[in-house]
Amino acid sequence: EMKLCLFLLLLCLSRQGLTVRRTDSNCGRTFSHEEHRAIGGAIEQLGLKILEKLAISSQQPNVILSPLSLMFALAHLTLGSRNETEKLLLQSLQAHNQPCFHHILGSLVPHLTHRSLEVAARMYLRPGFEVKLSFVEESLARYRSRPFPLVSVDEVNQWVENVTNGNIPNFLESIPHDVVLMLINGVYFKGHWKRMTREWKTQFDPQVTSKGVFYLDSQNSVSVDMMKSAQYPLRLMNDPQLQAQVASFPFKGNTSFLVILPIGNVSSVLPKLNISDLYSRLPQEKSMQVNVPKMKLQYRQELEEALTSMGLGSLFSGPDLSGISEQPLRVSSVRHATTMELSEEGVEASATTVVTAMRSISLFSVNSPFLFALVDDFSLAPLFMGIVTNPAPDNDPMPNDDPNGNNTMNDQPGTEADGPGASLADRTRRWTSLI
Ligand SMILES: *[C@@H]1O[C@H](CO)[C@@H](O)[C@H](O)[C@H]1NC(C)=O
Ligand SMILES: *[C@@H]1O[C@H](CO)[C@@H](O)[C@H](O)[C@H]1NC(C)=O
Ligand SMILES: *[C@@H]1O[C@H](CO)[C@@H](O)[C@H](O)[C@H]1NC(C)=O
Ligand SMILES: *[C@@H]1O[C@H](CO)[C@@H](O)[C@H](O)[C@H]1NC(C)=O
Ligand SMILES: *[C@@H]1O[C@H](CO)[C@@H](O)[C@H](O)[C@H]1NC(C)=O
Ligand SMILES: *[C@@H]1O[C@H](CO)[C@@H](O)[C@H](O)[C@H]1NC(C)=O
Repeated sequence: EMKLCLFLLLLCLSRQGLTVRRTDSNCGRTFSHEEHRAIGGAIEQLGLKILEKLAISSQQPNVILSPLSLMFALAHLTLGSRNETEKLLLQSLQAHNQPCFHHILGSLVPHLTHRSLEVAARMYLRPGFEVKLSFVEESLARYRSRPFPLVSVDEVNQWVENVTNGNIPNFLESIPHDVVLMLINGVYFKGHWKRMTREWKTQFDPQVTSKGVFYLDSQNSVSVDMMKSAQYPLRLMNDPQLQAQVASFPFKGNTSFLVILPIGNVSSVLPKLNISDLYSRLPQEKSMQVNVPKMKLQYRQELEEALTSMGLGSLFSGPDLSGISEQPLRVSSVRHATTMELSEEGVEASATTVVTAMRSISLFSVNSPFLFALVDDFSLAPLFMGIVTNPAPDNDPMPNDDPNGNNTMNDQPGTEADGPGASLADRTRRWTSLI
């Protein structure tokens, strides 16, 4: 079971020192798969841009974002922006060439929520603050965001806790007095690993989970609980462009978990990543042995700096948000919080049935820093995305068996070439020799 509770993004607008209702009559139609994929690509680009700006350090070894949630929040803000601000936002969201952007993005919601994903949105308004009716109507029509009075931080926190299924409590410490409007959304995902056969109750048997090694770098490793599956239907390839192993774990219900396990620096993969391109090149599913670290991670981040360095600094100084209110407004804060939990399915530990003999076996072991994306297979939009360099940040690092990293021992015999020091060629040799 994989729980990506994710997340939540909040835009706080505060006071700073007449619009025509703009509905495009051509947008009230059904959109094509290509149009949804184009929006999926825009969501991915936004996620990548922000991910690149968020530093990884030993204090913050993992970054988890919901590009989908970010997109909803910024697109919602765009609805209320005008003139240069609207242009800038549309460009940053790669939506400037898409006249029906808000309609297409909004129409993704029913597609997504058929699956294991819940999306909720709200707009909190300080009593007395005058908002334009057109903004309220469009927010509801496009993003299903309803207006609510901003009464207390506890009420807001309770809503966040509710929509994230209890995973994000105490989201805000306080709400400054000058905050008059908050655009807030929450995304909650609970997915199940896909089973090989109907008879299998679980894909990862908790009784098989055991201590394993995760290589932080060529010098250090950390002990993790490694979940194991003898046969997972995986789409796996070796990508010379990314210098990485790329694997997609299909989930039940049209989502998949993409893992990119680079040989070198995990951050250097970001500028080259293209999910749509990877999905078009990934081979057919093949059953193989996989090791995945069990983990439970949390991430909280104020995004003002990241958004500023991607060119959106004017949102925080003097934006034109005259579509929301006659009063001048500026964005005072953009907060994001995410959690992600990867575990075997449920607490119900059941014995696995014996598997029929297979023609080939291979191993995919997620045991060094990786990039992941939880992808909606329909739009190819990343719902969640992140970099994990240490799945067990509370455990003390220990030196690798072989500090040179050339021949790092794995937790399993016969998989030496999977360590971070192994070259792509070594890994390839390893797989092929296993086949
Ligand atoms: C901004 O756009 C509105 C129409 O939406 C227009 O009336 C106004 O003059 C514009 N303001 C500036 C500073 O361009
Ligand atoms: C949170 O959920 C509880 C129980 O379902 C409900 O009573 C409460 O009104 C909800 N609070 C908010 C702010 O949505
Ligand atoms: C997955 O997608 C297929 C085809 O798009 C659809 O028929 C099916 O109902 C979807 N399944 C779920 C669980 O959403
Ligand atoms: C990865 O590369 C980036 C620059 O490309 C650098 O800032 C970062 O420190 C490197 N990270 C590691 C773990 O080597
Ligand atoms: C990603 O790859 C697809 C082809 O699969 C291409 O159409 C698209 O333009 C690429 N996106 C970027 C941002 O390069
Ligand atoms: C590891 O590789 C480096 C160069 O790639 C080499 O200098 C070193 O001797 C090797 N160490 C071992 C233990 O093989």
